[in-house]
Amino acid sequence: MATSRGQFGSRIGFILAAAGSAVGLGNIWGFPTQAASNGGAAFVLVYLVLAFLLAYPVLMAELLLGRHAHGNTVIALTRISDRPLTKAIGAATGLTGIIVASLILSFYAIVAGWMLGFTVAYPLSSLGFGSSSTWLTAFTVPRNLTLMTCFMVMTMGIIMGGVHNGIERWSTRLMPALVVTLVALALYVFTLDGAVEGLKVYLLPDFSKVFSGDLILAALGSAFFSLSLGVGTMLIYGSYLSDDEYLPSIGAQVALIDIGLAVLAGFLILPSMYVAAERGVEIFDASGALLSEDTLIFSVLPALFTSLGSIGVIVATAFFGLMSMAALTSSISMLEVPVAFLVERFQWSRQRAATIAGTIIGLISAVVIFNFESLFGLVIALTTRYGQPLLGLMLCVYAGWVWNRNSLLQELKKNNPAAEKTWFWRLWPFYVRIVCPAIIAIIFARSLL
Ligand code: PHE
Repeated sequence: MATSRGQFGSRIGFILAAAGSAVGLGNIWGFPTQAASNGGAAFVLVYLVLAFLLAYPVLMAELLLGRHAHGNTVIALTRISDRPLTKAIGAATGLTGIIVASLILSFYAIVAGWMLGFTVAYPLSSLGFGSSSTWLTAFTVPRNLTLMTCFMVMTMGIIMGGVHNGIERWSTRLMPALVVTLVALALYVFTLDGAVEGLKVYLLPDFSKVFSGDLILAALGSAFFSLSLGVGTMLIYGSYLSDDEYLPSIGAQVALIDIGLAVLAGFLILPSMYVAAERGVEIFDASGALLSEDTLIFSVLPALFTSLGSIGVIVATAFFGLMSMAALTSSISMLEVPVAFLVERFQWSRQRAATIAGTIIGLISAVVIFNFESLFGLVIALTTRYGQPLLGLMLCVYAGWVWNRNSLLQELKKNNPAAEKTWFWRLWPFYVRIVCPAIIAIIFARSLL
């Protein structure tokens, strides 16, 4: 079986693909304002601690489970179980992950479609196609449907190419382009009046804000979303890794890139907001908090781009292009979850699996678009607030309790005979057994009360 499965061609290809999955809309549109509104550098610190203490161990559970099984989550969780009950619960967990990943893609594709629309709208309007440009940026059902479909078709096209020729090839193209664009934009914004003010807000630590329970819950949720955890994305990527790679350091690199790019995005977003404020754009809401999410992306920043005159068109196109690239390397990893399952379970061709899964998810997106007010927020909350942490908890239980310790150690020893003596082996099993499940459960229980 291992021979007919796809495989990443190189370590760097894997790292870029996994980091591409992790670095997405969450990093650029969520993290910077969340940090600025919640204690600046102090929040960044708490986020770093949570990401390394909680999210990284779960990421490792996924990578190790996936690489061990060389198969999707359902295969991975049933293979390590030796009792019918744990096999059944494992299969149910895997299937739930596939559904949650698909639902995440159903809302993600809508938002990513908007990004595509804005990317094209700026050059169009400067070329004199004002009405097309307005159509692409105004919130209407036909525009939402069209752009979501375009984005889904791009995602499906890459997934049809396979692990090496699709996922890896596109991630190694898009990720460097993303980093270059991000750095160039941040450097440009630094030259504008007001940028320093934004940097101060982003970086001056305010420790009084970081110790609230709600904040830690929010930070945990974003860390899980940001590292694409729980739904089996990282597990399936891990399953395409060769047995020669030592996973703990590869996983750490992926986590570092994800966090690093979130922090880097802050160097673009916060200065941009204060530059906009300097030019008369309102950047605070009625309660005095920084505007965030959709208002930030689709009204504050566009107002800034307009105020920059002709160079604004280039800056805007680069910015929305950046968002589109970040979204695409994440969406392919979401679609790969159901596709890998369909290919492995029903021996479908990748083309067929991608077409059918992509079409069904596109139809779910369409239902969300037609019932936007009632469904959009609901799907996001269900999948990211509840689905991801709970599935993450189950993965910890399987990696920590169900998986035989010896077999786990053998997995690590495949490429590091001294694995037993590493810090990873001393700490991680305990973490994934006790610390992660307990903390996820406590945080989760608190959020329900
Ligand atoms: N990590 C992605 C982001 O930050 C989102 C994602 C979630 C990707 C779950 C895959 C699976 O935008």
